[in-house]
Amino acid sequence: MPATIAIVGTGYVGLTTGAYLAHLGHKVTCADVVPEKVDQLNRGELPILEAGLEDLVTEGLASGRLSFVLGAARAVAGAEFVFLCVPTPQGEDGSADLRYVRQAAAEIAPELEPECVVINKSTVPVGSARVVEEALGRDDVFVVSNPEFLREGSAVHDCLHPDRIVIGSGDQAVAMRVAELFEALRAPLVITDPASAEMIKYASNAFLATKVSFVNALANVCEAVGADVREVVLGMGHDPRIGVEFLKPGPGWGGSCFPKDTRAMVHIAEEAGYDFNLLRGVIAVNDEQYERMADKVEQMMGTSLEGCEVGAWGLTFKARTDDLRSSPAIEVIRRLQARGARVRAYDPTVDPPVATSDPRLAGIELRADPYAVCEGADVVVVLTEWDELRWLDFAKVSGLMAVPRIVDTRNLLEAPALRRQGFAYVGLGRDG
Ligand code: UDX
Repeated sequence: MPATIAIVGTGYVGLTTGAYLAHLGHKVTCADVVPEKVDQLNRGELPILEAGLEDLVTEGLASGRLSFVLGAARAVAGAEFVFLCVPTPQGEDGSADLRYVRQAAAEIAPELEPECVVINKSTVPVGSARVVEEALGRDDVFVVSNPEFLREGSAVHDCLHPDRIVIGSGDQAVAMRVAELFEALRAPLVITDPASAEMIKYASNAFLATKVSFVNALANVCEAVGADVREVVLGMGHDPRIGVEFLKPGPGWGGSCFPKDTRAMVHIAEEAGYDFNLLRGVIAVNDEQYERMADKVEQMMGTSLEGCEVGAWGLTFKARTDDLRSSPAIEVIRRLQARGARVRAYDPTVDPPVATSDPRLAGIELRADPYAVCEGADVVVVLTEWDELRWLDFAKVSGLMAVPRIVDTRNLLEAPALRRQGFAYVGLGRDG
């Protein structure tokens, strides 16, 4: 049965959720606080790069099932379900900052219909359902936790083909009302209490970050003993208890979730009197990984990086997204700069004239094409696994560089082919 739904917040999660719920046949009104963003979305223009999302938004607008309004209060009037999809940034002590969740709850409280279900999709610490209940101050509405597991870059696919749908509620009947919204997806349902639902999100992200830190540490050992980490992962991955997913070594994990959620999990445990030193180790391995990538560049140069010209390919935290938040690519560049290198960077989603004003990119010379960063470069570093980098004209790259050297922190390129073309090449966790 189609429902009337409000979405508060149109970031990656809110926008994708709104667009796919409209696609499933529901009537959805999405609210944001930025007037330009609301106008842009009502014209069908997207503020983010996300495969397939523009089509869903266009479809929703055309069908009249999807609309965007300014301010949460306007969106929730008449809604049976309200999804809170506001950011939960990292507070100074590593805990999740619930300011926006509280603000949104307080703003919508007077407008909510009786019996309305407020669904928290924002990643919030255990016990936050109660925080929302308190901020709402209404005993005639329900609060449910429904964490989101979408990955940037494949958000639409992940929403339409979820591995599971987790609903945390103290009231089985209310949980079933929420589950019905997703019925068409035919995904496995996990209906549980709110605290467990909230923990599932942190535990999932912390575990995935652990896998990546594990493989990054493993790559370091493989390098030291002459093994090839890609072969090792293949051999491990046939064991279904391990699998091959999330075992690709790289310059470290980043993005909007792993860094803040792992730190929040450590903080949650600490508050509860448990020292989660395993997870602290996972974070430490990641922090060291940025430094190790700078070491690799230095080893390739055989000298200090003072005055060295470095070309960087990639700035986003992974490919197929334009998100620069907590990007390992930028972390590595900062460490190269700290060692005296001059860095020029290219990323397919970063437009130099526009991006120069972005404080996250301050001091990085931006170039509009991948060859431009190679001109006179002593070494080029692959930092994000953009597919297009595989298909470059490497003879041209070599001709442009002062000396043809590549450090590939994503194991993206073909080492033998590059070496045949005269490149000094080094990847991660392997010799060849
Ligand atoms: C993640 C979770 O996957 C998703 O379920 C959750 O809802 C939000 O956080 P996302 O941040 O979009 O999604 O990125 P993800 O694809 O998980 O990658 C996170 C980081 O790990 C990236 O920096 C990526 O490059 C790195 N990574 C991932 C690796 O280095 N190796 C891998 O094998 C996998």
